[in-house]
Amino acid sequence: MKATITTLPGDGIGPEVTAAAVDVLRAVARHHGHQFRFEEHAIGGDAIDHHGTPLPETTLAACRAADAVLLGAVGGPKWSDPKAKTRPEQGLLALRAGLGVYANLRPVSVHPRLADLSPLKNEKLAGVDVLFVRELTGGTYFGAKTRTSEQATDETKYTVDEIERVVRRAFELSRSRRRHVTSVDKANVMETSRLWRETVTRIAAEYPDVTFEHQLVDSMAMLLLTRPSAYDVVVTENLFGDILTDEAAALAGSLGLLPSATLGGRVPLFEPIHGSAPDIAGRAAANPLGAIGSAAMLLRAAARLPQDADNVEQAVRDVLAAGHRTKDLAGPGEAALTTRQMTDQVLAALADVADRRYSYHGV
Ligand code: NAD
Ligand code: IPM
Ligand code: MN
Repeated sequence: MKATITTLPGDGIGPEVTAAAVDVLRAVARHHGHQFRFEEHAIGGDAIDHHGTPLPETTLAACRAADAVLLGAVGGPKWSDPKAKTRPEQGLLALRAGLGVYANLRPVSVHPRLADLSPLKNEKLAGVDVLFVRELTGGTYFGAKTRTSEQATDETKYTVDEIERVVRRAFELSRSRRRHVTSVDKANVMETSRLWRETVTRIAAEYPDVTFEHQLVDSMAMLLLTRPSAYDVVVTENLFGDILTDEAAALAGSLGLLPSATLGGRVPLFEPIHGSAPDIAGRAAANPLGAIGSAAMLLRAAARLPQDADNVEQAVRDVLAAGHRTKDLAGPGEAALTTRQMTDQVLAALADVADRRYSYHGV
């Protein structure tokens, strides 16, 4: 198996967690004789500093020519002046649009050993296994913006085609899960949401084997905390998906744990859902598991190596079960691993998982 992977480490903890994910991919490649070629490019604040733009042409071209893109995070206080003419986040949005990746998959589950980290009672967390499907190339993020000294506007626009394609993905994905789709909107207020709801209702009729429901986003924000295990696939627009998935990260125990894969475009994009975490950047404290989980999703969705993807995910579960913790997961006074140490634990666990599977298949 040969694959070219463009890496975009970006800013803050982006390079720290991307290095961890690349190490894991290299280990998988070594073990099976795959050839992964990594090509690193600039994005975000780093690209503004070195190239004067958050998404240089060379970066986008390298992403388009690759089999997969692995991104760390962009942004930070250095580039957050509201008067700046360009921001790191614009590079990320331009990348998503430039690749056409519209279906952002953000799985959330709770490792039993981490349940105590969640603000929710343990019994509410049993069986939590939600796949958020966030629309990623439309809505408020990409609408026209206006600004005067006295007022500002952000247009929210969705076309039927944009809604249909992401909703179909959600229904398809539910078929390899529990066959339940929850569509989230604000149809009591927003015209785009009324179009969204109408479209989902029509598409749902094509999937009689899948149960579905509509929820308003405010109520959904509450339901995610009161009965999180009731949800299977949750499909929603760009902005609501951004907010609900950070909320859902609190169920899992840390934002640093959550991976994502964005599909549907020319080249798939893989990134942890967290940001550049300026408060901990440069301190070797970042949790690499969200980035490593994104590498697992890359193995499954881009490299078509589902067994290796399962192995990496199993290694992450094993490491957590063994009690290894980065600072975000450690209790007060509890010893915490550095990013590097956590990555080494995953690499060791991965070798064990692979050995177990190998000897099992060998008998
Ligand atoms: P953030 O996700 O960077 O951090 C929120 C909190 O979670 C912080 O306390 C941080 O320390 C913690 N955290 C995040 N990831 C962690 C990890 N891997 N390990 C341990 N702790 C982790 O969100 P923010 O502080 O609101 O945003 C900071 C910058 O990141 C902003 O410029 C924002 O635009 C950008 N951002 C980028 C992305 C991306 O590139 N995909 C995503 C979100 C935010
Ligand atoms: C995310 C981030 C981005 C988003 C920002 C940095 C543009 O929060 O990937 O969740 O809002 O999509
Ligand atoms: Mn976000």
